[in-house]
Amino acid sequence: MSQTTQSWGSRIGLILAMAGNAVGLGNFLRFPVQAVQNGGGAFIIPYLVSFLLMGIPLLWVEWSMGRYGGKFGSHSTPFILDSMSKKRWWKYIGVFAIFTNLGIISYYTYIESWTLTYTIKSLSGAFSGIGREEVAGMFDTYVGINGTLTDDILGINLPVWAIVAFLATLCLNIYILSKGLSGGIEKVAKIAMPMLLVFGVFLAIRAITLGDTNIDGCDTCNTHAGLDFLWNPQFDSLSNPKVWLAAAGQIFFTLSVGMGTIQCYAAYLKPKEDIALNAMTAGWTNAFVEIVLGASIVIPISVGYMGLDWVMENAGFMMAFKTMPYLFNQWQPFIAALSGLAWFGLLFIAGITSSLAMGTPWMGFVEDEFGWKRNKSAIILGLIVLVMALPPIVFYEYGVFDEYDYWTGTVALVVFALAEVILFAWVFGMDKGWKEITGGADIKVPLFYRFIIKWVTPFFILIIFISSLIKPMDGNMSDWAVAFSQLFSEGSWPWANDSIIAQIFHLNEDLKWFAADGPTAMFFKDLSRFVLVATFVGLAIMVKIASNRRKRKLTTPKILEE
Ligand code: PHE
Repeated sequence: MSQTTQSWGSRIGLILAMAGNAVGLGNFLRFPVQAVQNGGGAFIIPYLVSFLLMGIPLLWVEWSMGRYGGKFGSHSTPFILDSMSKKRWWKYIGVFAIFTNLGIISYYTYIESWTLTYTIKSLSGAFSGIGREEVAGMFDTYVGINGTLTDDILGINLPVWAIVAFLATLCLNIYILSKGLSGGIEKVAKIAMPMLLVFGVFLAIRAITLGDTNIDGCDTCNTHAGLDFLWNPQFDSLSNPKVWLAAAGQIFFTLSVGMGTIQCYAAYLKPKEDIALNAMTAGWTNAFVEIVLGASIVIPISVGYMGLDWVMENAGFMMAFKTMPYLFNQWQPFIAALSGLAWFGLLFIAGITSSLAMGTPWMGFVEDEFGWKRNKSAIILGLIVLVMALPPIVFYEYGVFDEYDYWTGTVALVVFALAEVILFAWVFGMDKGWKEITGGADIKVPLFYRFIIKWVTPFFILIIFISSLIKPMDGNMSDWAVAFSQLFSEGSWPWANDSIIAQIFHLNEDLKWFAADGPTAMFFKDLSRFVLVATFVGLAIMVKIASNRRKRKLTTPKILEE
């Protein structure tokens, strides 16, 4: 168990760190794109319902699990889960919530490093006076896609500058993590979060006040058309399973639930410290930043210049890098540079306060169980991330990046969240669970949440999980109807490409690792799956060793007594 127990310096520091954990690239890049792809205002209602019925309950559950585990000196999910049940296998379920973070951090810090480069580029005027295609092309060259790489090192084409920026970003993360909770993460959050708000509000005001850009032949080139599209709720989406799945997935990712980072942060609370209000404050801050600021920047500004149809067709998170710098350059040079700084600076801050959180479950685990010092834990984390990040960086073009995101940022967290809520409400039990949530609470937690946590949340997540497992075609209501009739008439199922089953068995793809011109995309995908599985197994072995060590420690005093 940890020799030096850390703790948070102040309540405001804790809340800012938790908010920083949640507020991330998900709020500014993932949310707007998901919203556009799922019908704009049609997305909002399923999103809010998922927040209330799944997000908030999971926040309370995870904060309580963390504080509870902390009482026993456990700061990572394997042994937090272990402390909540007599069954020994729960700790292996806990492996998910270290694994997920290692997977996500590997591609997330890569995106974070792009934002760093782009901040510098914006300030140095690299985008001024060049066309939209060229700005987009600069990004391709930077990450090395679409045949843009020409430097040949040891026979492999590498995006050299992207790698240098990635290494710098990784080192920065590792350095801050090595400074610990109150000396590193909390300090950063206290400076970064207010800055993020200032940048965000500046850009949102800019977008909202821009209005009509008077572009010839473009009726919808008005930032208000973008805002209207995102915020005008449409009730017909309520019956569309596809939109629900996307909304629930966004809630998971943006709140960082099902990941183990909240449990880890909360494990450093004092036993009687408030959970109920703190969790709400951090959760609603994230929602505000997402719905108000996240929705007011990239989409409205893009609609303002490119029109609604273009945005609906081209929405993707690359827009942040490929299109935004060009749009900023429609403004005076000073405002353009300032906006570039605000946008990429904001993304960098949002990113780093989240990637730091992703590092903490590992840090807590090895410090608790193996007694490693912070520096050693952080450096080894850096080496693991370096190895894991290589496939998505070097083989970016083959979709390895998306493969990591799919398994760790989309699937694993749902599996873990389902398991933990069952553990909390059914194994640990709602009587004890409710006491944990309400103990030390500075607000009165509405009693109906007891019912929601026990019945609604697990059921909700179960449905999400099963639908993702067997999703047919595009996942619309009509697709489900067709799928069931096909099942009964022909005995087969039209798997969606992104259903978990189709992904596992490569159902809709050509099973081929090598083609005439070298390895196929499938080869690289499977390679990355191997890396992910190996990471999971490695962590599980570490948990096994840790558990043996714990047993030995427990039995030693008895032997001495005899
Ligand atoms: N919630 C973060 C975001 O919105 C992502 C994140 C994932 C943070 C996992 C911590 C752990 O970008």
